[in-house]
Amino acid sequence: MPEHKHIPSAAGLFLRESFRSIRSTASVVPSSRYLTAALCEHIDFHRARLIAEFGPGTGAVTNGILARMHPDAVLYAIDMNPSFVEHLQRSCQDPRLIAVHGSAADLSRILAGAEVDPVVSSLGLTSMNHALRKSIYDQVRECLRPGGVLTQYQYLTSKAGCKLSRSEFDELRFLETYFAKVTTKWVFVNFPPACAFTCRKA
Ligand SMILES: C[S@@+](CC[C@H](N)C(=O)[O-])C[C@H]1O[C@@H](n2cnc3c(N)ncnc32)[C@H](O)[C@@H]1O
Repeated sequence: MPEHKHIPSAAGLFLRESFRSIRSTASVVPSSRYLTAALCEHIDFHRARLIAEFGPGTGAVTNGILARMHPDAVLYAIDMNPSFVEHLQRSCQDPRLIAVHGSAADLSRILAGAEVDPVVSSLGLTSMNHALRKSIYDQVRECLRPGGVLTQYQYLTSKAGCKLSRSEFDELRFLETYFAKVTTKWVFVNFPPACAFTCRKA
């Protein structure tokens, strides 16, 4: 009898990987379409031709980007977890998507030095060590075109000052050290509720 490999659903895979490493997966369920919409709201998709996504996971945000982006644009979706990259490659046949197994900290090498705009990040910055998040954002500073946009979110439950969080990390202040302008939008129809940051390079 041929052996059938069990292929988990997106939700099942996400949950499995979050149990395996909650620190890097940073959530137990994928983002809602409302959070995806908030991350995409201020992006000029008419103009964008080279887009980077950090931490696509099972593709909740990726699919939202693909639905909005120009037919000639290319999306580099970079994830450290090979199971997520394999899932994306298997489940999405869109030729504009390039799913890359790697770290966001290698952005410049992955793009071979090209300028990118926008960058959409789902990375759990709160649970990341400071050296890594700094090296990722140093890369963004180097690769994002002047006037370009980065979007990023943080869960309410991760925010410094929230009773459920033990973190001292102030994400807004961190982003303001890299970008000329940062705006915020709360999305309550998401688990957990999240704050979407839109950051513009000078
Ligand atoms: C909160 S999940 C977001 C998944 C998906 N974008 C969503 O919103 O449903 C964070 C993702 O970041 C990935 N990740 C964590 N550290 C990373 C790094 N240094 N470089 C690239 N991806 C990373 C994890 O594997 C995971 O897929």
